[in-house]
This record gives sequence, C-alpha cells and structure tokens, in this order.
Amino acid sequence: MVHISQYVQSVAGGERAKHMTTQRPEGMIRLDSGTPNFPTPEHIRQAAKDALDEGLTYYAPGYGDPEFLRAVCGAIRRDTGAEYTPDEVFATNGASSGIYTLMTAFLDPGDEAIFMDPTYSLYLHVVRLLGARPVLVPHNAEYHLDVEAVRAAITDKTRLVLFCNPNNPTGVVYKREDIKALVELCAEKDLLLISDEAYAKILQPGYEHTPLLSFTEHKERLFLLDTFSKTYSMTGWRLGHIVTPPGLTSLLFGVHRSINGPICSFVQRAGAAALNGSQQCVADMAEEYFRRGSLMHRMAENIPGMIPLVPQGGFYLWCRYEFPISSKEVFKRAFESGVNIRSGSEFGAAGESHIRFTYSVSLDEIERGMNVMSEVFKHLG
Ligand SMILES: Cc1ncc(COP(=O)(O)O)c(C=O)c1O
Repeated sequence: MVHISQYVQSVAGGERAKHMTTQRPEGMIRLDSGTPNFPTPEHIRQAAKDALDEGLTYYAPGYGDPEFLRAVCGAIRRDTGAEYTPDEVFATNGASSGIYTLMTAFLDPGDEAIFMDPTYSLYLHVVRLLGARPVLVPHNAEYHLDVEAVRAAITDKTRLVLFCNPNNPTGVVYKREDIKALVELCAEKDLLLISDEAYAKILQPGYEHTPLLSFTEHKERLFLLDTFSKTYSMTGWRLGHIVTPPGLTSLLFGVHRSINGPICSFVQRAGAAALNGSQQCVADMAEEYFRRGSLMHRMAENIPGMIPLVPQGGFYLWCRYEFPISSKEVFKRAFESGVNIRSGSEFGAAGESHIRFTYSVSLDEIERGMNVMSEVFKHLG
C-alpha cells in the first residue's frame, strides 16, 4: 500500500488539477481555462530564436539572465516609480512556482495565510499542502477588498496576506484607497503582503491598476508575484518572477532553487524582449478582450437567473445565479451540455452560487458557449 502524505491527500483531488487532466469530448466549448488564444507576439518569439542561435542553451546564471533581471527592474520603475536592483528579483517557472516559493518560505504547519474570498485556487492548495491554514476573508458586497474584515481575521498565527489584482475569478480591479488601507494594516500588524499581478495589464477601459510596489515606504514587507503567461500570451513558456524586499531575495531564491532548476535561459531573453519592446501588442490584446468581455457580459445578462459582474480586468466573467443548486452541479450540467466552465466554489466558500467563464477565447466560441448556457439555465429552475 503506497503511503500518501495527509497534506497531499487533502489537495490531490482538487478541482484545479482535475481541470488540467480531464478528457473532454471532441467539440467541447472551453470557457474554463485561463489561456489566451493569441499567438505570442512575433518580436518575442524572434528574441527566443536569436537567443537559441547565440547559444543560450545552458543553465541561466544566478537569479536569472542579467538582461532579463534588468528588464524587470526597468518595467517596475516605469510602472510604479519604485527602484529595485537586479539582486532583488529572480526568475520563476511562471507565477506558479513563485506562489509555491513564497508559501514555503513563510509558512510552517499550523500557520495561517489570509486570502480574499473568492480567490485563485492554487494559493489554497499550496497552503494546505504545507500543513498551514488558508483563511478566506469574503469581499464586500461589490466584490472589493474588505479591509476591516481582514483585520478581524488576523490572529497570532497569521504570517501573510496575499491578494491578486485584478482578481481571478471576479475580474474586479481593487481600489487604490483599499490597497493603501491593507498595506497600512499589514504594517501595523507586522505582516508580509503579496500581490499577484498576473492580469495587471489586461484592463477594461476606464479601470486603473494600482501596483503594490508603488507603496514604496513599506518596501520591507511587499512582494510582487508576476508572470508573462497572460499579458504576453505566453502560458506555455513558463516564465514569471518574484520581486522581494531588500535582504530576502537570497532566502527565497534558495527555496525556489530547491524545487526548480534555473529558468530556461533563452525564454528569459524572450521575457526581456517582451518588457523592453513596444507594448502595443498588449494594448491590442486588451482591446480584443474588451470586445469579448462585452459580448459575453451582454449575453449573460440576457439569461434569466444569471447575474454577471461587469468585467474590469483579466478575462473572466463572474456570474451569480439565483437557483438553489450548487455551483458544482451547474458545472456538471454545463459540461454534459458541451460547455466547460468553472464552479464558483472552487475559488472559496463565497464563490458558491457563482460560476466563472473565461473570455480569452474567440467571439464565436463565446457566442456558441453562452447560447448553450442559456439552455442549461432554462432547466435549472
Ligand atoms: C491570479 C493568477 N496567478 C497566477 C497564475 C499562474 O500562472 P502561471 O503559472 O502560468 O504564470 C494564474 C493562472 O491562471 C492566475 O490566474
């Protein structure tokens, strides 16, 4: 009999993992996955090809390729006004290994980490895997940060607070004044604060993203988790980075190094090209996400019983529904009807009675998928 650790048993059947491995019937409409359907922009692909031809096929040095680390520092300066040096950054295998690294570095079994509810479910799995406890704090009624609720959730076991902004799964872009209040609360309580900004550059018109690192006076407790996956349509390249407070990079890099070798060297050159090059490709994709999000929202609004939130950032549509049926059951019925979606409860208890759609797919898939959902909803009542 194989012994499986109790922590692994608690997450091994997780819905996230199942989504990655499920066999889907041919023709299934995929409104579940956070994968942009755009090709990676040409100049980024070219940089990887050039790097291969230059011979960047060996282990990358130290925290990462120097050109990559400099490009990250330049982008942070441009976006936040904050000054970081290449020895305060290191490359990760997408944001995923960054999440694992931060949780492993700061959580012992029994410790608590605070997340907003609903939230990206990988955080919760990793915390449980470590034998620590995820504490989920519901958003306020508008799905924004509820800083007083976070205050009430802090105990002497709390080690850190992590939020993603824009939020996955709600697509809400948090307000600067709320983030400021959260930063000040963490300073008051001496907690670490981590911002996952995977979707920071994918904003619907009229919304502005507040980078956590712009609160420079609290630099000693702020961490940025970032990835190239969404912004530059590079999910398969597996590139991200962590920005750390001064003095903590070596510790965190050590944790990362124990689970991952250095990140692919020619991919890091592609990342540098992405950050240093024109950002027009990002603006073009954001414009297309606006078209797609608007279509999906409009169609969802016309489905009786479905109450969609207006998308603000990222590429997810978050919908409440008014039927006495679990979100897992709605997921199941949609799946059986040929549309793959995500149940809201995957993202936390506050996600119950919600479902998440992704609009990173074509307009045609959105239209066909929402037409099927309209039929599914007719039968929920
Ligand atoms: C909020 C958030 N963070 C991190 C990730 C992980 O991205 P990757 O590991 O591809 O960089 C995702 C992917 O969906 C996400 O939604």
